[in-house]
Amino acid sequence: MVIGKDVDKAAGFIRNGGLVAFPTETVYGLGADALNPLAVAAIFKTKKRPTFDPLIVHISDIAQIEDLFEKPIAPVVYKLAAHFWPGPLTIVHRKSTLVPDIVTSGMDTVAVRMPAHPLAQELIRKAGVPVAAPSANRFGQLSPTRHEHVVKQTMEIDYLLVGDYDIIGIESTVLYVDNETVSILRPGYITAKDILELDRSITIINKGENLKVSSPGLLKSHYSPLKPLYYFTNDMQELPEKSGLILHQIRKTEPIAEKIIYTSRTGNLFETAANLFTALHAMEDNPAIDTIFIEPVPETGLGIAIMDRLRKATYRYSKTK
Ligand code: TXA
Ligand code: MG
Repeated sequence: MVIGKDVDKAAGFIRNGGLVAFPTETVYGLGADALNPLAVAAIFKTKKRPTFDPLIVHISDIAQIEDLFEKPIAPVVYKLAAHFWPGPLTIVHRKSTLVPDIVTSGMDTVAVRMPAHPLAQELIRKAGVPVAAPSANRFGQLSPTRHEHVVKQTMEIDYLLVGDYDIIGIESTVLYVDNETVSILRPGYITAKDILELDRSITIINKGENLKVSSPGLLKSHYSPLKPLYYFTNDMQELPEKSGLILHQIRKTEPIAEKIIYTSRTGNLFETAANLFTALHAMEDNPAIDTIFIEPVPETGLGIAIMDRLRKATYRYSKTK
């Protein structure tokens, strides 16, 4: 794998059916030409991702939805795209015949997102094709928010495009759109409140409430570190030996642990989201740590998306399944 900052070179690999890991404002993606089924198949292979889990198609221009979505496109799509793109919002809508079945796992819908990161935009524009990309981690493991996190997953990739660290840090909000109803399939940076602020008349169905559609990628266990991960609770004064602790605000008395990482010192959820996966990767990589504990966050605003990730990351190790 070549690691560098040459967008032209990276775009060339995409055009020729290769795989390129690239930064977005959420997490690193692992991209291929969305219209080339063989190139897309290589994504599933290198990630060891089951083919029932469909990919997000990344675009650099809103007009590309005209090719990817089946007509008529629901008016609410244009409203959401005009307001939230480029940005951390993925829109799922009926697909056109242009989109290969391997991208959508045979479903009749496709997920599309226009990322805000300038390097991602430049890459997609220069590639000249929509770019199918899941997060650039092995299936089920921690999402990468720094290029080093991609390197450590040791996947077969042609080019790793290196970006900066000024990111949101958790994956996009995934919305299913059907006429004037939108369903939140995966919570993210953009919340139901943000959508209602744009237009009060939009009906939002939250995950779990009468959701008619399913998102095959919404598994209970996901984003897991390779070491056991448990919730930290306030009564824990001293953690077991070789424990790492991830906190989101300074406490009056600091618990005793081998290593403590703060995602924020003040309980700022935006800082916590930006630093969450980096903190988990650091604990996973630290040979002095066998077990990781993490503080939960209040489930409001961005906290909904953060707790969604933590619930999936702790699922394998939780007693109340
Ligand atoms: O922020 C992000 O969304 C990042 C960056 C790279 O853009 N990408 C990302 O991709 O998180 P991935 O593959 O890790 O997650 C995509 C999610 C999965 O839960 C998948 O099941 C869902 O989107 N999805 C994709 N296509 C879908 C469809 N047609 N219907 C329902 N869910 C879909
Ligand atoms: Mg992922």
